Amino acid sequence: MTGVSAPVLHTLFRSDQGGHEQVVLCQDRASGLKAVIAIHSTALGPALGGTRFHPYASEEAALSDALNLARGMSYKNAMAGLRHGGGKAVIMGDPRTLKSEELLLAYGRFVDSLGGRYVTACDVGTYVADMDVVARATRWATGRSPSSGGAGDSSVLTAYGVYQGMRASARQLWGDPGLAGRTIGVAGVGKVGHHLVKHLVDEGARVIVTDVSEESVRRVLDRHPEVTAVPDTAALIRTEGLDVYAPCALGGALDDHSVPVLTAAIVCGAANNQLAHPGVEKDLADRGILYAPDYVVNAGGVIQVADELHGFDFDRCKAKAARIYETTLEIFAHANSEGVPPAVAADRIAERRMADAHRPEHG
Ligand SMILES: NC(=O)c1ccc[n+]([C@@H]2O[C@H](COP(=O)([O-])OP(=O)(O)OC[C@H]3O[C@@H](n4cnc5c(N)ncnc54)[C@H](O)[C@@H]3O)[C@@H](O)[C@H]2O)c1
Repeated sequence: MTGVSAPVLHTLFRSDQGGHEQVVLCQDRASGLKAVIAIHSTALGPALGGTRFHPYASEEAALSDALNLARGMSYKNAMAGLRHGGGKAVIMGDPRTLKSEELLLAYGRFVDSLGGRYVTACDVGTYVADMDVVARATRWATGRSPSSGGAGDSSVLTAYGVYQGMRASARQLWGDPGLAGRTIGVAGVGKVGHHLVKHLVDEGARVIVTDVSEESVRRVLDRHPEVTAVPDTAALIRTEGLDVYAPCALGGALDDHSVPVLTAAIVCGAANNQLAHPGVEKDLADRGILYAPDYVVNAGGVIQVADELHGFDFDRCKAKAARIYETTLEIFAHANSEGVPPAVAADRIAERRMADAHRPEHG
């Protein structure tokens, strides 16, 4: 097995993380496709998770990313109450130069060869137009455009779910889910962030934003003149009187540098993998900051793509995404009764759901 290093094999079969059920390495020489499809768990149903198209530094890095992302999807899907396990695929290479119709069709054939054990969707580097092509080779592709029978952009419901998670956090900390009059900082006003700002402004919150893209900030300020902007995230998280911090850009927003200086009492945002390393959840709890676990509150997107398999219905999905409010409160209640941070409580609930699904009465 040349090129697959021992540490990756260790990760794959590591028992403390439950291991992975199946990992498929795919190659199509004609189109240059090299991909990994990682299925972490099908305990709750077919594995569901997007396809990342990225120029990885090495094949090991790609494999490792696929394994970690697939595992994360198991937890997210379990917590969202979906009848789906966790999986993820990565295509190695620069999407700007390597992506072609031929390659996407070849990839679709590999997805199809798994017979529905893995259902794909968009992720970094893949878009609805790409899923339309993949879907020509397999019925197990979601995140397609509405004109192809898909649900389109998932950021609308992702933002709605984050908003519900934020209301639940406010209810938990202040006894009232209302956000009117609260000061909320949104870092990253891209696809999800700018929809979130609208919910917050509509409710009467004071919103402060930041983004490395001037254009993204401009779009928000033009639509909502009452919103203010600060130069960067470092300034945002130190803002005096900040009630809520919503990381909506990249992962790793909560680390040893940011947590000690956070002025907000609540962290609730859309970004994946906000905790930079294990232990940060405890640092937040020690500072009395309520953290709404990222994969719990940002599940609106996966709720949407899962629905696409059954014929997409926006209102049905919105009702499911609204339940993120109750789920978030449930996690806070478990965290309190078990004396652990919410991130730990969420992991435990997701693990229990997956373990219960393996019991004989569930077939
Ligand atoms: N789109 C979805 O449905 C969805 C679902 C679940 C999770 N997420 C996660 O939510 C986050 C945002 O997703 P998106 O779809 O809105 O992506 P996006 O690329 O549209 O938006 C991200 C924004 O963050 C900005 N940004 C990047 N680095 C920054 C920095 N250092 N400081 C401030 N701003 C910065 C970018 O300029 C961009 O405007 C990502 O972490 C993504 O994985 C998205």
